[in-house]
Amino acid sequence: MPLAFRYAVFGQPIAHSLSPRIHAMFGAQLGIDIDYRAIEASYDDFAASLVQFAEDGGRGANVTLPLKQEALAVCGGVSERARRCASVNTLIREGDMWRGDSTDGVGWLRDLRTRCAFDPAGRSCLLIGAGGAARAIAFALADAGAKSLSITNRTFARGDVLAQAVDTLVRSNTIAWDELDSADAFDLVINATAAGHARVALDLPDTLVSPATLAYDLSYGEAAGAFLLWARTRGARACDGLGMLVEQAAESFAIWHGAKPDTAPVYDALRARTTARDGD
Ligand code: ATR
Repeated sequence: MPLAFRYAVFGQPIAHSLSPRIHAMFGAQLGIDIDYRAIEASYDDFAASLVQFAEDGGRGANVTLPLKQEALAVCGGVSERARRCASVNTLIREGDMWRGDSTDGVGWLRDLRTRCAFDPAGRSCLLIGAGGAARAIAFALADAGAKSLSITNRTFARGDVLAQAVDTLVRSNTIAWDELDSADAFDLVINATAAGHARVALDLPDTLVSPATLAYDLSYGEAAGAFLLWARTRGARACDGLGMLVEQAAESFAIWHGAKPDTAPVYDALRARTTARDGD
């Protein structure tokens, strides 16, 4: 009997990932039988785990924290957008190799523009973090015509590498974390760090946001709570990353299955179980 095709999300931690539920809902919507699981993998065991997955019938995978940059190394080829941001969140089995793609940027922009009703064109933006997810966001902001992009990161040098990578596309600079209090309020402040997953609240000056600011956390649920509360307490509008999660998943689904699901009912079903976003 032929192997059933399998799909999965790899990351650490991964137990609470909503991706298996999202892909099951997409499949039900389009009448496609989906076998999509969450597989725990660290830097050390990711490559071996992926080999086993392919042997077991794996045909596609999502990659999340902390493996999005690591995933580049396992790919025999990558899309132009993944190569540019050096970050992979989608793997596609082609013959005996994996092709990498990045759907984070396009998924995030769709959520930002539709559900958050925010167009980054001409806006001043602060990106907190410089990991795989942050890299995809930085290029998405450049493509969307942001006026400026400031990047701050716990490890300054990593933020600086990203600022230089996008510099030809958008006016960008790096701000040291301990110099953030000298910056004026931004139109858009994005938390792309993994701090919330470690239940660490970021130490950020109040002056970064004003009531005109949109604060966006790429995380959702409890991991996004501290940042969203920080922003709202200072009068800013704040969104979590649940919509981005659903939109990037829909892009991956379309790549694997050739059909684009309707994200609205899936988002609504998940949102009914969490309360982290304004206006819902
Ligand atoms: P992802 O793929 O989700 O981007 P990642 O590549 O591991 O995950 O990146 C995690 C990001 O969160 C990095 O910017 C990291 O900062 P460093 O470059 O200094 O490692 C940031 N980060 C993680 N924990 C943090 C914390 N407690 N405080 C501030 N930043 C943190």
